[in-house]
Amino acid sequence: MKDILTLGIETSCDETSVAVVKNGREILSNIIDTQIPIHEKYGGVVPEIASRNHIEAISRVTKKALKEANITFDDIDAITPTYGPGLVGALLVGLSYGKALSLALNKPLVAVNHIHGHIAANYLTYKDLQPPFLCLLISGGNTQLIYVKDYTEFEILGKTRDDAIGEAFDKVARVVGLGYPGGSKMDKMAKEGIPNIELPKTHFDNLDFSFSGIKTAVININHKTPNINKADLCASFEKTVTEILYDTTTRALKESNLKTLVLGGGVSANIYIRSKFLKLENKGIKVYTPDLKLCTDNAAMIASAGYYNFIDGKINDIDLNAIPNLKIN
Ligand code: KG4
Repeated sequence: MKDILTLGIETSCDETSVAVVKNGREILSNIIDTQIPIHEKYGGVVPEIASRNHIEAISRVTKKALKEANITFDDIDAITPTYGPGLVGALLVGLSYGKALSLALNKPLVAVNHIHGHIAANYLTYKDLQPPFLCLLISGGNTQLIYVKDYTEFEILGKTRDDAIGEAFDKVARVVGLGYPGGSKMDKMAKEGIPNIELPKTHFDNLDFSFSGIKTAVININHKTPNINKADLCASFEKTVTEILYDTTTRALKESNLKTLVLGGGVSANIYIRSKFLKLENKGIKVYTPDLKLCTDNAAMIASAGYYNFIDGKINDIDLNAIPNLKIN
């Protein structure tokens, strides 16, 4: 069978990324041009600045991705840009660029849901992984438990009712003086602390999550006790949010009778969270965690998801718009 090459284009937030992936599983190139240093001084992503920088970077990053994969546009089988969820102005840059390529090259446009991409990061990491499985999707913009029935078929079993977990990590990190984006810095700082501070946990009867209560509690404690040991506070926050994720996810595994758990999204790079979930292997659950380089936003995961949409015949019309609050089901 002929190999299928997909061109992933990712501009949903603050990374301009273009990648070439073979048959959904093999990365030929994955160029990531990050804007983090640009947004750092504002303490978070400024949407208008993000869009402008995507426009400046997109052609350059695409040329680099083709060169590194040692191919030309002619070799590509489908153009697969992200069309949501994300910042609308940022999404429109990658989507419009993808549409223009599709028209100019007469190649199919296959749009990708960014969350589907985070799940697919695992197909690039583990060549043997196949649905069905349960995915705990933990990122800067989303926190969801997703029943992945097939490569392009999903059901949301639970979701956050307020903040995404990455958002909570970033806010707490900022308050304790770690800057933006703080998730990975918190990860390091928490290792130096003792989780000795009691923090609130919100639990629901269904499989939903909430992180705004614990986030506010940490901010208040830090405000009222300026001399508190910041490493202990980070360790306590990390341990408590992990317990919230773990309790609800193990319940979802039990209720769905699924024996495979897949982590995805930027927060799945967290070492404490990964090690806590990997212990489920002792309880008969197969646990997959994505390659650290593929946890945060990148176009290879989008190209992989795009491959599965493409072979499933999910071709989009050229009038497709970006959808900032796109859901996976
Ligand atoms: O997946 P991602 O790039 O964004 C979305 O698609 O939404 O995730 C970015 C998020 C940020 O909130 C960042 O602080 C967090 O992932 N993050 C981490 C770690 N590395 C990145 N959070 C906790 N521990 C980490 N090691």
